[in-house]
Amino acid sequence: MASVVVTLCFVAAVCYILRWLFLSFLGGQDKVEGITNKYVLITGSGSGFGKEIAVQLDQLGFRVIATCRTKAGEDSVKAVCSNRIKTYCMDVTDVNQVREVFESIKNEIPADEGLWGLVNNAGKLTVGMVEWQPLDSFKNIADVNLWGMISVTQTFLPLVKKARGRVINMGSILGRIALPYLPAYAISKYEQWQSLWNGLSEDLKQEYGEEGLQKGLGCMKLFDSVTSPHTSKVVSGVIHALTSRDPGSNYVIGLDAKVMVWLSMMPACITDFLFRIMAVIPGPAPKNSKRNDSN
Ligand SMILES: NC(=O)c1ccc[n+]([C@@H]2O[C@H](COP(=O)([O-])OP(=O)(O)OC[C@H]3O[C@@H](n4cnc5c(N)ncnc54)[C@H](OP(=O)(O)O)[C@@H]3O)[C@@H](O)[C@H]2O)c1
Repeated sequence: MASVVVTLCFVAAVCYILRWLFLSFLGGQDKVEGITNKYVLITGSGSGFGKEIAVQLDQLGFRVIATCRTKAGEDSVKAVCSNRIKTYCMDVTDVNQVREVFESIKNEIPADEGLWGLVNNAGKLTVGMVEWQPLDSFKNIADVNLWGMISVTQTFLPLVKKARGRVINMGSILGRIALPYLPAYAISKYEQWQSLWNGLSEDLKQEYGEEGLQKGLGCMKLFDSVTSPHTSKVVSGVIHALTSRDPGSNYVIGLDAKVMVWLSMMPACITDFLFRIMAVIPGPAPKNSKRNDSN
């Protein structure tokens, strides 16, 4: 059995090296052609990665259709792109609006062209302990990140199929492995944490104490310091997926994400052990919890 596994690993490694050599030999020829006539639609492109992707694709010559939740988002992306870019207001949770945008785009794209790329980028993230947030907040995240993504994909798929194009979903490594006490990894979420705290009932505030708030903020500072500042790597991943003749099915970007993928594949006893070690990171906990007892 062991020899079969070793042989399979060896064959896989040889195939990988041959593929790499083949693509290196091809040089620039591994890129798709006719970029200037290819249409790419991005959701949530008024800020963050969505905006960066829109700018880069526009510079490369793609015909970018940037959809944004608000008019302010539209103005913001328009201000940094060429006049070739088209923008639409589209809230991915609004099925009627998604359908209306689809109809407009269908009429705008030449009949023989479809949509080369659909980048499902719109997303939401909230921070805080599970009991600090109303149920509606979780539902809203699922409405945008999951149902919104499916609704947009279903609606635009006929155009993507016409171009034999590509759908790119921006996922999160936190979908593979749940971290203790937070989905919070962005410094921009500080304010959100604070306003969440302000809205807590007096009972919960007393239960966690002022240090609950401070530890939460400290926790985010810590996570912010370990996450990669190189956001351009994410944008490059999307560009590769849209321009390569041989795009990957998955792009895991950043060392932190790669480590988490390995962690997610380990037996639960190992991840449990690692998380127990991580529990020494001072996170918010009720004053009478076991963690605080041991302090
Ligand atoms: N940042 C990370 O470290 C990270 C890691 C893993 C995955 N991701 C994923 O990457 C994507 C982009 O992340 P980001 O960091 O650029 O986030 P971001 O800065 O918060 O941008 C998210 C974008 O989505 C838009 N959006 C939110 N709700 C929407 C809705 N209902 N309809 C249409 N657009 C909506 C936002 O518009 P408004 O500003 O108008 O609300 C914003 O333009 C997300 O899907 C996120 O889950 C991010």
